[in-house]
Amino acid sequence: MGKNGRMTQQSLAVVVLAAGQGTRMRSATPKVLHQISGRTLIGHVLTTARELEPQHVVVVVRHERDAVVAALDESTPGLIVVDQDEIPGTGRAVELALAALPPGFDGDVAILSGDVPLLGPAELAALLAGHRTSHAAATLLTAALADASGYGRIVRGANGLVDRIVEHADASAEELLIGEVNSGTYVFAAAALRAALPRIGAQNAQGEKYLTDAIGILRADGSPVAATIADDPASVAGINDRVQLAEAERILNARIVRDHQRAGVTIRDPQTTWIEVDVTIGQDSEILPGTRLRGATTIGQNAIIGPDTTLTDTEVGDLATVARTDATLAVIGTAATVGPFAYLRPGTVLGAAGKIGTFVETKNTTIGKGSKVPHLSYVGDTEIGEGSNLGASTITANYDGVNKHRTKIGSHVHTGVHNSLVAPVEIGDDATIGAGAVVRKDVPPGALAVSVAPQRNVDGWAARHAGESGGVSSPEAAAPAGAAPAADDAVADGA
Ligand code: UD1
Ligand code: CA
Repeated sequence: MGKNGRMTQQSLAVVVLAAGQGTRMRSATPKVLHQISGRTLIGHVLTTARELEPQHVVVVVRHERDAVVAALDESTPGLIVVDQDEIPGTGRAVELALAALPPGFDGDVAILSGDVPLLGPAELAALLAGHRTSHAAATLLTAALADASGYGRIVRGANGLVDRIVEHADASAEELLIGEVNSGTYVFAAAALRAALPRIGAQNAQGEKYLTDAIGILRADGSPVAATIADDPASVAGINDRVQLAEAERILNARIVRDHQRAGVTIRDPQTTWIEVDVTIGQDSEILPGTRLRGATTIGQNAIIGPDTTLTDTEVGDLATVARTDATLAVIGTAATVGPFAYLRPGTVLGAAGKIGTFVETKNTTIGKGSKVPHLSYVGDTEIGEGSNLGASTITANYDGVNKHRTKIGSHVHTGVHNSLVAPVEIGDDATIGAGAVVRKDVPPGALAVSVAPQRNVDGWAARHAGESGGVSSPEAAAPAGAAPAADDAVADGA
């Protein structure tokens, strides 16, 4: 039943064709599961279909059917999955789809291809509205393409009306010159489709039941067929190989970038900025060249991201800056700074005004408000309180070869440069650690921990070694392995 009390003549079923192998992709992954802008091709098509609020959505599958079915959004209202049999062709696919609708269904049937991802809901709604106004048996969406190669061509009669569609493989030299192509998107009156489908044969170059033949059959019966030419031919581009996949992604990305720009985001270089469909970005944030924002990434307001940054499923707060960084499943707090050259692995949570600096890797680590890991560190499985500072090259030794252990660092802690924190270990609030320390025992709050032997200077050492072969800078002359030259010079001399 339709909206606004309009009954069956307004009801709609959408059929999505996704059974084909996609041979030209040359892929182990079924074609419709390849992604552009972070969503599978069929995911894009289903998103568009849902916007029309159809009563039924029939997806026809066959090749790698389990993988395709698993990727379908099960929450799609009215979803029906239909398995295509061994009879090949888009005509057969639609025949089986139609048979899966409730027996009395006599509304409109919109047919979409699982490999045409750029067609938007507005274009589809316009096609449907045109079809309903004209009361045609079928309405085609066509496009004028500079390169029509591979597409079915629209053959119009002397009166300018559509006569039939001829597939590329079956077209004569003259027909191949036709620039108007079939987009593979149609609306049919269910009854007309039901009458035409059983009459489609497979006597053609590909030995398949072509859905496109339904048009010629309806016209021969004297039924009216309408055609709408797409305003934007790029929207109807079908994806058959990986060249077309990349072209489609560039077009979609340009649309996404433009939408963010119009919503108040500064994007310096649209050509090198890649933003996936589900990403959100707050007003007055700035995206610098070479940035990829992926998955469920969200960026707050007035943040600066990039250059050369990839964020996947990452949350960035207002006023944060993230430069030359790779982050996945991380949370970056308000006004925090990250990079340049930082690697944030899953479970990294950086508090407000915190810092993860240059050549720093973090994983499964919470860094409290205002705490800093500024230089050359690995921090994993760690919790850091507020206002602490880790010295350059502080490393958590979280893995003993079998198990991972946690490090706990309190608030207002200062670790030294080149510290190894051997987990499990806990450093209390306000503690300080000396340079070069290897921390194997807990450090109580407020304590100073040192673990490096006191330094000894051997006076006049250089003068005594002057003239020795190779000099003191030679590794052989320096000392036997394991002994520093200055450590026990007198003993070494006497031996
Ligand atoms: C089809 C059209 C062509 C049109 C083009 C637009 C036919 C015969 N030709 O050609 O006129 O210009 O789309 O992109 O329809 N599929 C099935 N079952 C099958 C075969 C295909 O479900 O047995 C599905 C595919 O998975 C795909 C869609 O139908 O999603 C189109 O099939 P494809 O083989 O790509 O058709 P084209 O040769 O591109
Ligand atoms: Ca195709």
